[in-house]
Amino acid sequence: MRLDKFLCKMNLGTRSRTKAFIRQGLVKVNGFLIKSPDFQVDEEKDQVTFQGEILRYQKFHYFMLNKPAGTVSATADRNERTVLELLGQDLSKGLFPVGRLDKDTEGLLLITDDGDLAHHLLSPKRHVGKTYLVTAEHPLTLSDIAALEEGVDIGEKKPTLPASVQRLSEKELLLTIHEGKFHQVKRMLQAVGNQVIALKRVGFGPLKLDEGLKSGEYRKLSEQEVSALYESGKKNAS
Ligand code: URA
Repeated sequence: MRLDKFLCKMNLGTRSRTKAFIRQGLVKVNGFLIKSPDFQVDEEKDQVTFQGEILRYQKFHYFMLNKPAGTVSATADRNERTVLELLGQDLSKGLFPVGRLDKDTEGLLLITDDGDLAHHLLSPKRHVGKTYLVTAEHPLTLSDIAALEEGVDIGEKKPTLPASVQRLSEKELLLTIHEGKFHQVKRMLQAVGNQVIALKRVGFGPLKLDEGLKSGEYRKLSEQEVSALYESGKKNAS
């Protein structure tokens, strides 16, 4: 791979920016200063440094975004602001959100360019858990909670799969579901005669929404978080 492309893939900036870094003498390969952007590197074997810092090659990229309400979970949209716009143009190339949150839903959205992982996590066979903080319009009774836990009729062929429910207050729940039907949580609340008035995803498989991320902020996942995601996909396969 060309050295300027390698630096782009490492998120150091656009192609013209990385070419400039190389020409300025900021980049070394295996200890040798390289000033030609078209220098070929073996991304698995060569050691590339930028201003003395080793750049470890990462084939794929993984981010956790705290999605704000009002953005759409898409890579491009003519009229609406997409979640990828929050990451900026340099970073978002080739990335996509893993699954969808409604425009008015906030919270944890995984963004990656790793199609295999996305496929694992979204496969209906794998039942990866998704936890939502749900604010309902009306108080929820114990029988509503029992029904949500057991499975409710949302107009599909089968009732929803068993869910876990933790009651936080009269109108607030933590609800963990193991499938991802269209508008599922809103439809589940409607099935017990209620309405969702606010929805925030706080967990996705082994990931928890990082409380340090303000609405609209994102961060890279750690290697441990990525491995845990892969494990959860495998574990839940049936
Ligand atoms: N369920 C919903 O109804 N909406 C979401 O955005 C996610 C789950």
